[in-house]
Amino acid sequence: MNDNKKTIRDIDVSGKKVLLRCDFNVPLDKQTGEITDDKRIVASLPTIRYLLEKGAAIICCSHLGRPKGEWLPELSLAPVARRLSDLLGVPVQMAKDVIGEDAQTLAKNLKPGEILLLENLRYHKEETKNDPGFAKSLANLADIFVSDAFGTVHRAHASTAGVADYLPAVSGFLVAKELEVLGGALTTPQRPFVAILGGAKVSDKLGVIQNLLEKADTIIIGGGMSYTFCKAQGGKIGQSLCEEDKLDYALKMIEAAEEKGVKFLLPVDVLAAAEFSPDATPIPCVAGEIADDLMGLDIGEETRRIFAEEIKNAKTVIWNGPMGVFEFPAFSGGTRAVADAMAASEAVTIIGGGDSAAAVQQFGLSDQMTHVSTGGGASLEFLEGRVLPGVACLEDK
Ligand code: 3PG
Repeated sequence: MNDNKKTIRDIDVSGKKVLLRCDFNVPLDKQTGEITDDKRIVASLPTIRYLLEKGAAIICCSHLGRPKGEWLPELSLAPVARRLSDLLGVPVQMAKDVIGEDAQTLAKNLKPGEILLLENLRYHKEETKNDPGFAKSLANLADIFVSDAFGTVHRAHASTAGVADYLPAVSGFLVAKELEVLGGALTTPQRPFVAILGGAKVSDKLGVIQNLLEKADTIIIGGGMSYTFCKAQGGKIGQSLCEEDKLDYALKMIEAAEEKGVKFLLPVDVLAAAEFSPDATPIPCVAGEIADDLMGLDIGEETRRIFAEEIKNAKTVIWNGPMGVFEFPAFSGGTRAVADAMAASEAVTIIGGGDSAAAVQQFGLSDQMTHVSTGGGASLEFLEGRVLPGVACLEDK
């Protein structure tokens, strides 16, 4: 499903109107409404520049937040149009609506080399319902559909999948690169292949662990989810995060890893604290021996060393989910140690989006990774091996 999809290089776009689905779902400052991180806009630039050079007229569209059919002014894409224009150095027209009169007139008059951005797709509830009428109205604005919103390809929405019923559909460079790198790591990884999983909840990673057990040589578990594994093996975890209903699952995964010969590494020590606070004092503890009134908030020194050693010997490393509460400086050391080890490694290093992408950015290490995915939920579903509707709908080569 991954590398057999047509991209914009496989079709003639010159003189055509292109409906380009981007993921401009960027974080905004609640007070000022300013964009606080524009990396998703920056990630869309190679495709936009290529289309402009080839003489296409681009009608960009995206969602922003989850307005659920309400016309919320604070979720207007107007700030994105301004930032996009600044980054490209060319004007970006902003439509007052999505499929209404203004969008239709501006799209009709759009000339080769010009860009238009439609308003927030989710101002219409038909978008997330993948309503065929809404998809058709979007499709009517253009001649070709280009899917470049990797962060949203796991959604079967009108603008991510539905429009492909009415227009020739291909991927842009961002989606193509994500599929190539993530897909390559899963199907033909250079070995040893190490997968590092963290984050708060085991329940978010059920499918990912299962799928990676079939593919990885080593699975490393850290972060909040590791305490459920620890308790499942009889460890004392105090007040640490735990999903009681996932204890059986955790044990089964440990057993399955053993059967399959997959190395399954859990923390051997942790930094605990008496309260969930940035000012809490870190208390080193042996994993599985956390006092009743403490909670684990980071992996410990010995665990950092063991994980770093494993990363050093790997040829492919995928990481999704922080090792601790990296937002608190006193408990960011474990996440930092994994990021440093990956940055120093010669291996193919892939950050699977979401919080781990935020962490490597915070540490200033993004440029030292082979690939930092722009997807959060989308990367996770990809790592689970699920069919992504926004990819499945594209034309095969
Ligand atoms: C994301 O931020 O992960 C994507 O833009 C998808 O957003 P959604 O979860 O609201 O569909």
